[in-house]
Amino acid sequence: MQPRKIALGNQKGGVGKTASTLGLASAITAVGGKVLVVDMDQQGNTTGGLGVALEEGMMTAYHLMNQTREGIAAEAIIATPWDGVDLIPADEELGKIESDGSNDLVFRLDVAFEGLDLSPYDAVLFDCPPNMGKVLFAVLIAADGVVAITEPTIDSVGGVQKLEETIDTVRKRANPKLAFDKIVISRKRSTGEHEFRESELRETYGALVAKTSIPELAARQDAHSNRTPIHQFKGGKALTLQLAYSDLLAELPIVIGAPA
Ligand SMILES: Nc1ncnc2c1ncn2[C@@H]1O[C@H](COP(=O)(O)OP(=O)(O)OP(=O)(O)O)[C@@H](O)[C@H]1O
Ligand SMILES: [Mg+2]
Repeated sequence: MQPRKIALGNQKGGVGKTASTLGLASAITAVGGKVLVVDMDQQGNTTGGLGVALEEGMMTAYHLMNQTREGIAAEAIIATPWDGVDLIPADEELGKIESDGSNDLVFRLDVAFEGLDLSPYDAVLFDCPPNMGKVLFAVLIAADGVVAITEPTIDSVGGVQKLEETIDTVRKRANPKLAFDKIVISRKRSTGEHEFRESELRETYGALVAKTSIPELAARQDAHSNRTPIHQFKGGKALTLQLAYSDLLAELPIVIGAPA
């Protein structure tokens, strides 16, 4: 079975896209699964978070986007220090893509994955950039589903609506199978404002909002600084985060250990 290709997105910065990508990757491997993470952000935070330092001549997401070649993604996959997690890394070079005027630019990522046997993986997770640029469109054209990550703030409903409109456009014009899988509330604190904004999101989007929200806890940043999967991190409230990411995983259309 080919794994689901999921884009973790929000055009807003700092909402927890990268933390969620790493947290879900950790949750998948904690139950013996295997995941391919694709860093589609020129900040390279996911690449760094997985403990990968780029070396001269390594292929990155940029190389999947600067040419049109079927299946080239296979050549860019590397192992990471995290057991069960492979990666297509990114660095600042990916930023060049936004000024590339090639006609087929937004289709190139999809072409790069064309014909690949991804059955060794239980999921492919694309960590998206914090804008509505060409790279985001390319990811939405290559993906099967979108998981919107949002903080519970005054702008959340509006931000998710914009992303939903973009999903609709891509679905109508380029990728009819693209599904809106879930909305995930991330970096949640127990303040009145956050509670209020969470209920606003739940009223607006109903069951599309994951029951599990991810709390804002310092252990998340500590695990990131240590380049450690949260499920192997000890200290602080790491256990609360482990449960949150594992519960969230169970709500997503990801099947661990499906027969190949
Ligand atoms: N659940 C959490 N608890 C505590 N800190 C968190 C949590 N989630 C994310 N953070 C921290 O918040 C900051 C932003 O998170 P993250 O990098 O995951 O967001 P992002 O949406 O990927 O940002 P960007 O849009 O810049 O890529 C980081 O410093 C991260 O460590
Ligand atoms: Mg990020």
